[in-house]
Amino acid sequence: MYNDYMESPTTFVIFGATGDLARKKLIPALFDLYVKKMLPDVFYIMGFSRRVCEIETFHDMVRDAIGEKMHNHAKEKEDAFLKHVSYVQGSFEDAEAYKNLAEALITLDNILAKKCSNKIFYLAVPPISFASIFTNLADAGLSIPCVGGWTRILVEKPFGKDLHTAQELDATLGLLFKEEQIFRIDHYLAKETIQNIIAFRFANTIFGPLWDKDHIEKVEVQLLEDIDVGTRGSFYDGVGALRDLGQSHILQMVALIAMEDPKELDASLIRAARAKVFTCLRPFTKNDIKTQVVRGQYVGYRDTKGVDPNSATETYFRMKTYIDNERWRDVPFYLEAGKALHEKRTEITLYFREKVSCVCPKDTDQHHQNMLTIRLQPNEGMSLLFWVKKPGFGMDLEPQRLSFSYADSPNAVMFPDAYERVLHDCVRGDQTLFASTEEVNAEWKFITPILQNWQDNPLMEYEKGSKPKHTIS
Ligand code: BG6
Repeated sequence: MYNDYMESPTTFVIFGATGDLARKKLIPALFDLYVKKMLPDVFYIMGFSRRVCEIETFHDMVRDAIGEKMHNHAKEKEDAFLKHVSYVQGSFEDAEAYKNLAEALITLDNILAKKCSNKIFYLAVPPISFASIFTNLADAGLSIPCVGGWTRILVEKPFGKDLHTAQELDATLGLLFKEEQIFRIDHYLAKETIQNIIAFRFANTIFGPLWDKDHIEKVEVQLLEDIDVGTRGSFYDGVGALRDLGQSHILQMVALIAMEDPKELDASLIRAARAKVFTCLRPFTKNDIKTQVVRGQYVGYRDTKGVDPNSATETYFRMKTYIDNERWRDVPFYLEAGKALHEKRTEITLYFREKVSCVCPKDTDQHHQNMLTIRLQPNEGMSLLFWVKKPGFGMDLEPQRLSFSYADSPNAVMFPDAYERVLHDCVRGDQTLFASTEEVNAEWKFITPILQNWQDNPLMEYEKGSKPKHTIS
């Protein structure tokens, strides 16, 4: 199917083009889309960053970034891709630099595209730079599309530091861009397995009737990473695990598990259904924060480059929370995330209630519970634990699993990276996989009181590569 957006010249401007995110995710994703012929026929990538570098040096960085993707492709592919890539150096705070950027964009449009190109501004920068970029873009006239084109802005998480700063940022952004131009990224929403939650829940008959407080005893949402903060110390120290993973990825996983049926695959209905879940999260009292939330920091974190040697930033958290609505009342949701842990595992597990009249053996304390696990990584897939008769003369039961692994799907090769999906959907103008302003505000409304009040909770230390000894269960 050939779509209109493919025919419109489009320029991607990446702020923070020499940073980690651009190198590890954005440039490889753009290259993959290029190879799959999923970028508009005429497109440009304009890097913008503080680092003084000649175009040749930037091209070397781009070559390096797509290095791993090259194994199947001829060198000409890389050379052809690089013809679309240019660079403007400038500080995010320097208004003059945006004039240079504006001029460079006009030149691209006049000389190469020969018409107005659509513009996508991707902010792959720490949140502290957002406000200056928004204002400087507007002052340089870049928030207004050229005739016949559109302008969109992609903003990385975390959007703000708390409710107040998120609202301030939104107010600034709202003056310059309309909501349909703003794409707030939570790349978890663009993951194949996360999108599958909607398909799985609302395209099948079998689980719908069981998806509530009467049948589900508790839900665990975990994003456990074995890597430490690595080279991201100075970014991470001002953010911490709750903002980095909790306010966004973890809460979005909760939303998809808990939301009501949107009835249609429509961006505004799906976003509204997710936002509704956040507004029903039970607010924590100060006392709840003491008893239902733990925070931890791995030993050695304070020695990381860019981290304050006395830092009290958490690298781990676990909490027990509730969703106060008819479907979920009093079902605990356990949310857990962190770095430098004993394993890399991201999954959601629903624990079903034990059957009241069960033919289970009575002389055992085994909990005969069904469990549904949705695994995001490693080995994306799902598995359902159920009980069967153990072969033999008795009537003992044993657990078995029905499992599905994405790797076994004949379509596994089509598995797009989340960032490919983010960029592609932004070009198409589909906001389904992006957080709305209501969602972001409601997420912060829930998270901010925790950030403000958990200083009194002890900062539990854990060894790198170990399982923190939490007390929340
Ligand atoms: C990012 C966080 O949003 O998500 C990182 O800033 C984290 O700290 C990453 O490592 C995890 O994403 P993924 O896709 O590797 O699970």
